[in-house]
Amino acid sequence: MPLKNFTSINDIDDMNSWIQEAKEIKQNTLSNNKLGNNKTIGLLFFNASLRTRLSTQKAALNLGMNPIVMNVAGDAWGIEFEDGTIMNGATAEHIKEAAAVVSQYCDIIAVRAFPTLSDKQKDESEHILNSFLKYASVPIINMESATQHPLQGLTDAITISENKNKKKPKIVLSWAPHIKALPHAVGNSFVEAMHKMDVDFVIANPEGYNLNPEITKDTPIFYNQKEAFKNADFIYAKNWSAYNDYGKVLKKDTDWMITKGKIGNAKFMHCLPVRRNLVVEDAVLDSDNSLVIDQANNRTYAAQLVLKKILENG
Ligand code: CP
Repeated sequence: MPLKNFTSINDIDDMNSWIQEAKEIKQNTLSNNKLGNNKTIGLLFFNASLRTRLSTQKAALNLGMNPIVMNVAGDAWGIEFEDGTIMNGATAEHIKEAAAVVSQYCDIIAVRAFPTLSDKQKDESEHILNSFLKYASVPIINMESATQHPLQGLTDAITISENKNKKKPKIVLSWAPHIKALPHAVGNSFVEAMHKMDVDFVIANPEGYNLNPEITKDTPIFYNQKEAFKNADFIYAKNWSAYNDYGKVLKKDTDWMITKGKIGNAKFMHCLPVRRNLVVEDAVLDSDNSLVIDQANNRTYAAQLVLKKILENG
């Protein structure tokens, strides 16, 4: 199926074939190094990034594209997203002009814009990502929005496929402690990616931390981490703030931290960045069972696959 935009895991029509194609790209990263010649991708960051920023540029370069990167929050004029506003406040430029202007310079626009975690309705409307979809005239890639991080979810699916040693592995997405209120995007996209794979998938989180039920659907949710971890092949740790009690941190104690004793021989996954000895102890991250660097490496091939599909679509 032709790919116009990539905004969520739901844009993946056949996860198995996408994973296969990503593995082929990984084997021969420069096989399509002319596909993007004379094409420009603009990477717009409203928030910080290490992996997404570098791996998406690397993917574009592997395809022969020219990447342009901008820290929108710090370096651009303040962008107004509301329609009909009298712009006599902090914002200096409307998204209608901003998105249309960037479309003059770029053949693809990629956007990172985190949620407020205070205004649930606004976050769930994906007002920044959807404004670019509405007002830009070129394809849009989501580099982590208020509710989705599909490049990460695709990466995680590729990484599990590469490292599984049984046909249908058991995967656990486990909430882990953090000092700050964090978004739901990585958890949401991981759940949606697992729903597209042939895996035995469960979620472990403390009471009060269930993700959006429209995303988790009928995934079993355990409030007992030890119970959830039984016979696990992969344990994916991530913190997220409460969804029902929106954006709140309800629990700070460390009893949900991932430890070597808890995970046994399971492979450990995390999207990074990760806070050592808060989310997960050193002994796990420093062990051979940790896949976090493999995941980060696969971010390039996930992005390259998405870019390739969009470029092939013309
Ligand atoms: N995992 C991830 O998206 O990392 P960055 O926030 O550093 O891009």
